[in-house]
Amino acid sequence: MNTSLAPAAMSIATPPGTETVERPRAVERLVTGQPTSDGAGVKLTRVLTQPLQRRLDPFLMLDAFGSDDPGDYIAGFPDHPHRGFETVTYMIAGRLRHRDSAGHEGLLQNGGVQWMTAGRGLIHSELPEQESGRMEGFQLWLNLPARDKMGEPGYRDIQSEEIPEFETGGVTARLIAGRSHGVDGAMQREATQPLYLDLHFAPGTRFAQALAEAHNAFVYVYRGDVAIGGTAVPTQRMAILANTAGSDGTVIEAGAEGARALLIAGQPLKEPIAQYGPFVMNSNEQIFQAVEDFRAGRMG
Ligand code: FE2
Repeated sequence: MNTSLAPAAMSIATPPGTETVERPRAVERLVTGQPTSDGAGVKLTRVLTQPLQRRLDPFLMLDAFGSDDPGDYIAGFPDHPHRGFETVTYMIAGRLRHRDSAGHEGLLQNGGVQWMTAGRGLIHSELPEQESGRMEGFQLWLNLPARDKMGEPGYRDIQSEEIPEFETGGVTARLIAGRSHGVDGAMQREATQPLYLDLHFAPGTRFAQALAEAHNAFVYVYRGDVAIGGTAVPTQRMAILANTAGSDGTVIEAGAEGARALLIAGQPLKEPIAQYGPFVMNSNEQIFQAVEDFRAGRMG
């Protein structure tokens, strides 16, 4: 089976609970990510793009990056602002140094997560701390409810060994956020109730997860392939799971090669979304204000 990429001090051999799924969701559609570059020229694949923000509320973006060529990542993401949402960066391989305008600094590496709450705003950089070797990971943008968009900025650097992990039926689950099989993930967020699992499947294994019917959910396969409700999901595809009335979860089955996949779900905010680059607010007026605050040096 696939082995975890990092030691898991909090590893739980057998989870205390199970997930009962009797009416699993079907795949509504498959999405192929769009190759793009961001920051100072980092090559990445934008999996969750702006046109899907409504459908996958409260999630705003998912970028996948992965390269052995330093030319694809070495420039990193120099100083840039954010306001109004959260970024969740999950490093599978490599080292990324984070610094911000308020003097916070952290090193994000192999298997670790940085959970950043931009709130009313900050300016930060995310720069590779390596000149060779593999850099691989994901950045997910999670919206904040209107009432929290102008809140205090904050961070949590979650080291790999702080991410709860368990094994069930040949599948190793890493719980970045939410709750699965009676185990609490590293982060909980009240308004959006995000579930963020990194699943490592041995060949031919399956994983069941209960999901609230109203929560929006998707699966991104980054190694091997899986099947969900009879639909084949190849590597580097996102499967959007249908919010079918009466459904109670999802069952993901790995192919003969095994697989690795992210399962992400959350409670939609159902609030207006106004995005301009790194600012995500509820109205155009708030976006103009964000741009003005940034230009005037009032953002961190
Ligand atoms: Fe950023």
